[in-house]
Amino acid sequence: MLEEKGDIMLKIAILGVGSRGATTYGDYLMTLKDKVKITAICDIDLNKLAYYQKKYHLDASSCFSNTTDFFKAGKLADLLIIATLDQQHYEHAMQALDLDYHLLLEKPISPSIEECIEIEKKALKKKRVVVICHVLRYTAFYRKIKEIIDSKQLGDIVNINSVENVGYWHQAHSFVRGNWRNSKETAPMILAKCCHDTDLLNWLIGKKPLYVSSYGSLSYFKKENAPKGSASRCIDCPVRSQCPYDAIQYYVEGAKKLKQPGWPYDVVVLDPTPEKLLEALKTSPYGRCVFNCDNDVVDHQVLNIQYEDQITVAHTMCAFSKECYRTLRVYGTMGDLIANGLTNEIIVHPFKTGEEIVIDATKLTNDLSGHLGGDHVMLDELINLLEGHPANLDSSIEKSVMSHLVCMAAEESRLHQGQSISIEEFKKQHS
Ligand SMILES: NC(=O)c1ccc[n+]([C@@H]2O[C@H](COP(=O)([O-])OP(=O)(O)OC[C@H]3O[C@@H](n4cnc5c(N)ncnc54)[C@H](O)[C@@H]3O)[C@@H](O)[C@H]2O)c1
Repeated sequence: MLEEKGDIMLKIAILGVGSRGATTYGDYLMTLKDKVKITAICDIDLNKLAYYQKKYHLDASSCFSNTTDFFKAGKLADLLIIATLDQQHYEHAMQALDLDYHLLLEKPISPSIEECIEIEKKALKKKRVVVICHVLRYTAFYRKIKEIIDSKQLGDIVNINSVENVGYWHQAHSFVRGNWRNSKETAPMILAKCCHDTDLLNWLIGKKPLYVSSYGSLSYFKKENAPKGSASRCIDCPVRSQCPYDAIQYYVEGAKKLKQPGWPYDVVVLDPTPEKLLEALKTSPYGRCVFNCDNDVVDHQVLNIQYEDQITVAHTMCAFSKECYRTLRVYGTMGDLIANGLTNEIIVHPFKTGEEIVIDATKLTNDLSGHLGGDHVMLDELINLLEGHPANLDSSIEKSVMSHLVCMAAEESRLHQGQSISIEEFKKQHS
């Protein structure tokens, strides 16, 4: 699939050299530099642009500070990674498809279902590969669960109980202080955080989701819950020693314990050190009191989903857990399965034998970095595909749109007191 005759290396451009575009994908691609070449980057943040120009050994002419110039320059690579923020994906993806780029598009495809469907249609019309970063499908952990379900060891699936434990610190970082705090600027939390979960559920079950209903709210991170005497920034706060959401404790003290602080410290400041973090927190959004932000996304939400063949799912997303991880319980007619994404342990109980089969999924891979290893495997598979080698790519746009439909229908339900929404009808209304 290399575009030009004589090309020996896959060329990759990155739009948005932030946490995902650069720290996750770009930095990994640099480790594959005998196979692929980063040929261009674009970001409106001039500090990041200069930093990654140097890091990726690029000429100034290959670094763009706005998308107008970037797209005007024509097609600069075989593959474009789009890792800008949620509401920009549509505009950037449509322009990139016009230039015939293959795309690695960050999730969510778009916060608008209409836009998701339009990107899908255009990708099919232009015959371009558009892979959505539903990275969990590429992990050894979920691939093993899928293998067990498909092998019918559990019989037929009757019910799945899934939990997304967001992590109290992750909620504060991303969904109270950070990029995804306000649904008007990005996406509702159920889409931003749980399109991974609905994607996994659709994939694992392998049937159509029919109806969804949902409840949830922003119950805690609000002005009225601010402790008496608290200040608007943690650095000035006289009561921060009693607050688990204290930014100084989390970022500065946290970074002191690490040899090389990565995410989420590097979201606050590039090349983070405790000193740089302390300075940044005086003015950065990440130094704000969690009870004094412009956030509106929920801190807990539940979904009930009815699938074909009477299969039911109960999914919970909740901010208030110590760690950030997912758990899954699959109930089948011949056995059950309990999976814990924190320990990477999968336990299977076949009813007939009464055994307990314990699988340690850490032994199935030697890379557990970035979404249990999924970030890198997804890129490896995509590179294989574009280089014309066999590839196990699971997250095409056609498969991914359905996960977004379930999330957006759930949000519609939540906003209407849990009313049951038909996914089919919801899609028709938005097509
Ligand atoms: N697949 C996953 O599991 C996963 C995890 C986290 C985030 N994401 C998604 O990845 C995307 C990026 O998130 P992030 O955490 O890297 O955010 P980020 O803020 O770190 O990076 C976004 C980058 O885009 C740049 N940018 C903004 N507007 C731009 C424009 N008009 N032109 C060029 N550059 C522009 C910003 O300056 C920034 O560097 C989001 O859509 C997010 O929802 C996906």
